[in-house]
Order: sequence, then structure tokens, then C-alpha cells
Amino acid sequence: MMHARAAGAPILCVVGARPNFMKVAPLIRAMKDVSRPMPFRLVHTGQHYDQQMNSQYFRSLGIPEPDVNLEVGSATHAVQTAEIMRRFEPVLDSERPAAVLVVGDVNSTLACALVAAKKNVAVIHVEAGLRSFDRTMPEEVNRVLTDQLSDLLFTTEKSARENLLREGVSGSNIHFVGNVMIDTLRYSLEQAVPAERTLSLRGATAKLAQVGYAVLTLHRPSNVDVPGTLRLLLNAVVEISRRIPVIFPIHPRTRSRIEEAGLGSMLETASLITLPPLDYLEMLGLMRTAKFVLTDSGGLQEETTALGVPCVTLRDNTERPITVEEGTNSLAGQDHSRILALVDDILRTGGKAGRIPDLWDGRASQRIVAVLHEWLAGTANRRVA
Ligand code: UD1
Repeated sequence: MMHARAAGAPILCVVGARPNFMKVAPLIRAMKDVSRPMPFRLVHTGQHYDQQMNSQYFRSLGIPEPDVNLEVGSATHAVQTAEIMRRFEPVLDSERPAAVLVVGDVNSTLACALVAAKKNVAVIHVEAGLRSFDRTMPEEVNRVLTDQLSDLLFTTEKSARENLLREGVSGSNIHFVGNVMIDTLRYSLEQAVPAERTLSLRGATAKLAQVGYAVLTLHRPSNVDVPGTLRLLLNAVVEISRRIPVIFPIHPRTRSRIEEAGLGSMLETASLITLPPLDYLEMLGLMRTAKFVLTDSGGLQEETTALGVPCVTLRDNTERPITVEEGTNSLAGQDHSRILALVDDILRTGGKAGRIPDLWDGRASQRIVAVLHEWLAGTANRRVA
């Protein structure tokens, strides 16, 4: 559809929000490979900007300072998406990249893909084809539209190819390469901060790490934006904390929703330990030795599968079915008794053991960059012809 520009033009990599950072980090490392470097530039939209959600991650993941920061910040979906587009367009004009590379499914992903497609710049989507089939999820809308705009689509699991083919994407543009998020996990595992250290640094008792604990994360609008649902979920969590201590690093969005709904007192339970958002290496260390993870995050469903730690997902669906079919993940939705039954089963039996899905071997980024080299050579040849 679209073509690379001048030979030697860079790949313009886009990040915006926390889950993008661990996906771009290994791609940049692979692009910097001295034996075959690939020119790139990094644009940060500024969708996430807090130190805890942003710069801390850059440091831990070894991501270079962005060449450009659009500093959009928080807003409604329409305003945030529009503002990213407005600020990204002149960057695209001045950078004249060979292609724009976007990852995942956040607003920054779609906004930059749309600007590029409208300017006839090729779009590369890493983590394409995942579908929850739930269009009330903002990320699902971002996923479907980004994939429609993409020229090259890299997938993490088999279901993604079927989804893309069903939506009319040409099979020759789809490449099953594995999971860049797991590249980062494997690369970082040795540097993961032991749970004892994270807990004592934050004033929680390090003894928890010895007696055993669960980790909770919660931030999806469908779980935290409706006070009734939030209350039900927190009730279940309080109940779980009577069986096993629960460590809960709280996303800023969730913290404000809990306060707005007047539910703050529910967190004042001795064995529910609340923390600010954690650094990637702290979170990794905490998950690695957890008895189980309770979450509504997409990334954590994959990371727990890679770590072999049982995961109870507080959603009715997942766009990452392989984590249920082959991994350690179980879907509990928002149903109190189902959540408790799954937790009790894990505490009794240890939970699902799972296996590592195909190509989640830490080398997805190298495969992607190898395809990119070929693709760039191919588009350059077509241009000459
Ligand atoms: C975004 C992504 C979601 C991803 C999540 C990870 C979209 C549609 N959603 O959701 O897919 O799982 O990031 O965190 O792109 N805030 C801060 N500091 C920050 C960033 C946000 O306080 O650095 C607060 C603001 O009150 C903001 C709210 O969090 O309004 C929501 O931020 P936003 O980026 O809109 O969405 P997330 O819920 O973080």
C-alpha cells in the first residue's frame, strides 16, 4: 500500500503510555545491533507523564531519551487522541521516516497510526490482531482501527492471525514473531528487585515475602469507573486478604476513583498493603514470587504466564486467549463467588501450571527487525523499479 521513503530514513517509533515502554525497549535494542543497525527515532506522546508512570520506566528499561516529546498529558479520549494527532503531524513532516512503528493498543497507538496512514507513511503494528470482541473497551477500538491502518502486522499468538484474516487483512502482511513484552521480561529477570526489598523500602513488612502474598492491579474503566462495581471488587479483595496478604500497587486513575466513590476506608485492612505504582523491575520481582496475581491488565496476564505464576483476571473476556488455553490465566470477571472459588483453588492446589506459548522465547524483537530489514529493502527495490 504505502512505501518507504529515502534510503536510510529512520523508523519512527512511538510510545505513549506505560505498557508501551516495555514493548519498545527490546525493539530499540535490536535496532541498535552493531552488526546490522537500523536507523530509528523515538517519539513520546506524553500520554503518561508522572515520574512513577513514565521516567522511572525509561531508566529501568534502558530506553534512550525520546527525540521528541509531544507532552499531551491526560484528557478525554477525544481530546487526548486529537491532541496527539495534531502534535504528531508536524513531527512526521520534519522526520520524514521510512515508516511509523506503533505498539499495543493505547490512544497514542491509534492516534499516530492514523496520522501516518493519512500522510501515506507506512504503519508497522507490533502486537497486532488481539481481540477481546468487546467494543466497549477503548483498547479494542484502538486495536481494530490500528490494524486496519497497518502495512506490516506482527503478532504474538496464533489467534491474532485468524482475527486479522477475518477482518480482511492480507495474510502476506502478517508475521507471527512472538511477544516483545516477554523479550523484556526475560532480559530483565536477573535485575528484578526482590520482593523483600520493595516491601521494606515502601514501609510494608518484608516478612510478607516469606509467608506468601498475592499481587493485585486494577485500572480498567469497566472495573473502576462505576462505583458499584468498584465496591464489589474491593469487597472480594478484602475477603481474599483474610486468606492471604494482598499487595496492591494503585494506578493513579484507580486511586482517584476510590477516593471519588468514598471507598478509601475499604483499603484500611491490615493485610491489604497499598503501594504507589511500582517500577517495572519492582513489579517483576513482586510477581515472580507471588502465590498468584489478580489483575485486569493485559500485560500482566502474559507476564504471569511467562513466569508460571497463576493469574486470576478480573474481566469476562481476554484479547490474549493463549494465556487461558496454554498459560496460567483464568477469567473470573467481576463475580464475587467465582473470584473467591478460583483463589481458594489456587491456595489449595497451587493453581494452573501452564506452559510457555510458542515463540515467547525472548527473541521476538530480533525477528521483527529481521523482517523490517527485508521489507525496507523490498520497498526500496520497488521504488527503484
Ligand atoms: C492507559 C491505556 C490502557 C493501559 C493503561 C496502563 C488508553 C485508552 N488506555 O490507561 O490501555 O492499560 O494506560 O496504565 O490509552 N494519570 C496520572 N498520571 C499519568 C497518567 C495518567 O495521574 O502519568 C491519571 C490521570 O488522572 C488520567 C488517568 O490516569 O486521567 C487515565 O490516564 P490515561 O492515559 O487516559 O489512561 P489509563 O487509564 O492510564
